[in-house]
Amino acid sequence: MAAKNPIHVTVTGAAGQIGYALLFRIASGALFGPDQPVVLRLLEIEPGMKALEGVVMELDDCAFPLLADIETTTDLNVAFNGTSWALLVGSIPRKAGMERGDLLTVNGGIFGPQGQAIANNAASNVRVLVVGNPCNTNCLIARSNAPEIPADRWFAMTRLDENRAKSQLAQKAGVPVASVTNLAIWGNHSATQFPDSTNARIDGRPATEVITDTEWLQGDFLTTVQKRGAAIIEARGLSSAASAANAAIDSVAAVHHGTAPGDWTSLAVVSHGEYGVPEGLQFGFPVATDGKGGWTVVEGLTHDEFATERIRITTEELVGERDDVADLLP
Ligand code: NAD
Ligand code: LMR
Repeated sequence: MAAKNPIHVTVTGAAGQIGYALLFRIASGALFGPDQPVVLRLLEIEPGMKALEGVVMELDDCAFPLLADIETTTDLNVAFNGTSWALLVGSIPRKAGMERGDLLTVNGGIFGPQGQAIANNAASNVRVLVVGNPCNTNCLIARSNAPEIPADRWFAMTRLDENRAKSQLAQKAGVPVASVTNLAIWGNHSATQFPDSTNARIDGRPATEVITDTEWLQGDFLTTVQKRGAAIIEARGLSSAASAANAAIDSVAAVHHGTAPGDWTSLAVVSHGEYGVPEGLQFGFPVATDGKGGWTVVEGLTHDEFATERIRITTEELVGERDDVADLLP
């Protein structure tokens, strides 16, 4: 059989922590499968270029059969040229004591020009995953600056929160993590996010039937997931990197390969008003994907009073962030 054409993948901030955990997995075939070659297009700012040279040496030294080419650059037009997947990681991580929203003033300005450069240079099938924080609103900024690209091609990453929540539920229930499905993260990738245990399933049963400790589900479970990023910064002195890279792989793979029937993945996507969320916000929803690039927000889930209030709070925060960056939205 003839070899497939390579898929071009852009990673911004490629010399950073997440980049270091991400590139080798993309090149090894973890993203698109064992028969799909890739070209890596790696963007850095000037101070990161020397370290990026070293990363490229290591990529070379892996002799990955699927890695067809590597391009490194500080030029947005080169970085996004012909790309089909743009993973926007490059930005400043928060330090201990900060909330992710505190990064908006320092990071927000990165994403408008990147959105425009994607619109001007990327392949017609381009899709974008924003990882750099605060990722929902950075994604909103990039998307708003690239109106030529359909709004459904833009994703911000809430999958790390989903993975964290699944792991907490599995440990509490004493089951393997693969037993936990249908875990939705609603709203912002921030301390207001709502990890939804009421619609989650454990071995096909409602999670709330398996874990009957409501105080834990509405208390420690929620806060552990909401504050996990801060706990990692506190412990490591640096923000999560390997688990973030893993979640980026999971996010793209879910769109590329499709979600299992009856299940979903957590992604922040453009709101069309589902569940009363204001249109246009980049909002964390349960998303079903068809493996051909199409997706829908899973509708018809119910929320009790507790969940409704949590979703109201995270929605309000995202509306506030949108107001704060009004000058970056054309
Ligand atoms: P890092 O500081 O290790 O690396 C960031 C890299 O980006 C650096 O090499 C830097 O030179 C580069 N960079 C900075 N500005 C750039 C620009 N304008 N264009 C291109 N490159 C640029 O940080 P990290 O740990 O890799 O984290 C990156 C981002 O990801 C942070 O904003 C962090 O908060 C975020 N993050 C998000 C999630 C999530 O779940 N959404 C999880 C973990 C981290
Ligand atoms: C995370 O959730 O680990 C990342 O968003 C990094 C952070 O600042 O918490």
